[in-house]
Parts: sequence; C-alpha cells; structure tokens
Amino acid sequence: MSEQVDAIVLVGGRGTRLRPLTLSAPKPMLPTAGVPFLTHLLSRIRAAGISHVILGTSYQAEVFSAHFGDGASLGLELEYVVESEPLGTGGAIGNVAHLLREDTAMIFNGDILTCCDLGSLLRAHRDTSADVTLHLTKVSDPRAFGCVPTDPDGRVTAFLEKDPNPVTDQINAGTYVFSREVVEAIPTDRPVSVERETFPGLLADGAVVTGYIDSTYWRDLGKPSDFVAGSADLVRGIAPTDALPGPIGDFLALEGATIAEGATVTGGATIGRDCVVESGAVVDGAVLFDGARVRSGAVVRASIVGRDAVIGSGTTLCDVVIGDRSVIGTGIELLHGARVWPDVTLADGSIRFSADA
Ligand code: GDD
Ligand code: MG
Repeated sequence: MSEQVDAIVLVGGRGTRLRPLTLSAPKPMLPTAGVPFLTHLLSRIRAAGISHVILGTSYQAEVFSAHFGDGASLGLELEYVVESEPLGTGGAIGNVAHLLREDTAMIFNGDILTCCDLGSLLRAHRDTSADVTLHLTKVSDPRAFGCVPTDPDGRVTAFLEKDPNPVTDQINAGTYVFSREVVEAIPTDRPVSVERETFPGLLADGAVVTGYIDSTYWRDLGKPSDFVAGSADLVRGIAPTDALPGPIGDFLALEGATIAEGATVTGGATIGRDCVVESGAVVDGAVLFDGARVRSGAVVRASIVGRDAVIGSGTTLCDVVIGDRSVIGTGIELLHGARVWPDVTLADGSIRFSADA
C-alpha cells in the first residue's frame, strides 16, 4: 500500500450467536483453521502493508493482549483500547481516534473472512475523494446484514441495517475506509451504532460515501454454520491466509493430534492439538478444539466440538456446537443447530431425531 493508513479492528462484540463457545473466549479468538481467527485477519492486514493496528476491545478485553502482545511476532505494532461499557460499532471507532497517526483509517469488523484487495479498496477511496468508502458484496439473503444500495456512480444512497425487506442484495461487507475527520466526529460518551447512526447521518449530511463493490470470497463467521464453513475454506486454500499452521489440504491436524487408521477426516476439518479420532470415526468439515476425542464409529459433520469434549461411539453430530468438556454418550443423534453447553453429560442413547436412526 503506497500511502500509510492506520487499521482499526472491532473485536468487542459478545459473539452471542456462537455461544456457548464465546462464553470462554471472544469470537475473534476462537480457533479457526488452527489459530485464533484474528490471526488470519491480522496477517492479511500486514500483507497489505499496514503495520499500525488498533484493536477496539470490550468483552473479555484482556484475552487479546495476553495472546498478541505488542504484535511484533506478526510484524505489527498493536495497540489496545478497552471500553469498560461496550460503545457499539461506531463508539468503538470514535474511541480510538486519539491513537490515529495518519489521515486515513481502514476499519475492520473482526469476524470477516474475505479476499477483498485492501490496496484496491484504498485506491478507490482516494480516487473518489470520499469521506467514507465501504466494501460491499452481494449475498443471497441480505436480511442479516446492512443493506447498501448505490447509484450508477457508486455513491451510497442509503444504509438499512438488518432490513426484513431488503431493497437490494448488496450488503455492507464490514471493511471501511474513513477519513480521520469522520472518526473524530463520532461521539464516545454513549453507545453509537456505525450502521444505524453514523452511516445514515453521514448520508443525511451529504457526505461522500462510496461503495467498493467486489465479488471475491466473503463470509461473516458470526454463526456456527459459517464458522465451520470458513474454517474449512481456510484449511483447503479456498480462502487464502498466510497464517495456516500447516500445509493446505483436505484437513489440518495440529501437534499431538492422533488420527487412527480407519478413521476418515475430510472436508477441510481441523483436528486440534492432542485430539484423538478413533478408528471408524468420520470427521467431515468440522472443527475439533484442542483435546477433543471422537470415539470409534462416531460421525461429526460441519460441527464445532469444544475443548476436551468427548463424542461417544456411534454418535452422529451434524451442524451442532458442543461446549468445552462436555461428554456426549454413545448412540446419540444431534442435528440442525443443537447446542450443548460446557460440562454437560448426555447419557448413552438419550437423544435421537428418528426412531430408527
Ligand atoms: N469494540 C467493540 N464494541 N466492538 C464491537 C461492539 C462494541 O460495542 N459491538 C460489536 N463489535 C464488533 C464485533 O466484535 C464484530 O467484530 C463487529 O463489531 C461487528 O459486529 P457483529 O455482531 O459481528 O455484527 P453483524 O455481523 O451482525 O453485522 C455487521 O457486520 C455485517 C457484515 O458481516 C454490520 O456491520 C452489518 O452492517 C454488516 O453487513
Ligand atoms: Mg458479524
């Protein structure tokens, strides 16, 4: 990136859609393809030539600095700002204004996996002399996102957060370029939503808000099905990263993981440190956190299995989340978004979705 910018990463959300996993770790710190998700994002920021990164933290703020420290190991200069009460996505941005060094800031939602070219995004911002430039992408169901129509010149005409009747399939992809003045104008004495207050306010005031529309890989990892899909895409090289702790392949096994002969591990699955996958088990596109055990003949598909959890023989999991240390007995069937809280024991055969399963 020819001109320097500061990066601001918003990581203060509570990650409620990923509970119970986010009870013990903030969402950007959950292991994704073997490392905290934020490591992938930070390495992408570094690869774009940005070195000064400010993390806007709130929920479990101390976990970030304990892991990343001053950022030197990633070639970054990391600074942390802690909100004692969450300031919302806008307040979090305004709250770091005093640490900015440059005239332009690139701002990242901390849960987005994308190949968007950050250099091109910044060039688009400069070329249009915009106050704010938003990365926009198209999705099949825009209702869970910020809906952002643009005119033929690429100027943003409205910002409609989580609209039940979206006027376009073009959405806010969660990466922005702001001029420093825009950052400095955001109030910090109360919670502010950048989506519901700052963007609509800028548009009403006639500010130049431009869309940078692209169609590269994009995914918000905020819910379990997207979390596992994003992790599997990183493992298989579909979503590129410099931070994968192993070669690209059909699965990733971390140090100390044991995969028995006769087990099938596929679909971009991650087998965490010291996990055991026993003979005849199938782990397909799932994420096993460190120390998890999948017993013989169990099938774990597109699910997240928490630390030190145990999945019993012959049990089937599909699209579920298992909390840390839970023990799922034998012959159980858990499907379709089921969530088991940490430290729960499910007795053998206790849950089935069909009588003959
Ligand atoms: N520091 C701080 N303080 N960060 C926060 C706060 C806060 O009070 N609230 C949320 N965040 C962070 C979250 O940690 C996350 O990284 C980011 O802000 C966005 O919050 P999400 O909870 O993930 O929002 P979303 O996914 O529902 O919607 C947002 O992202 C979509 C794209 O994925 C919005 O920006 C939508 O407009 C957008 O389409
Ligand atoms: Mg999100």
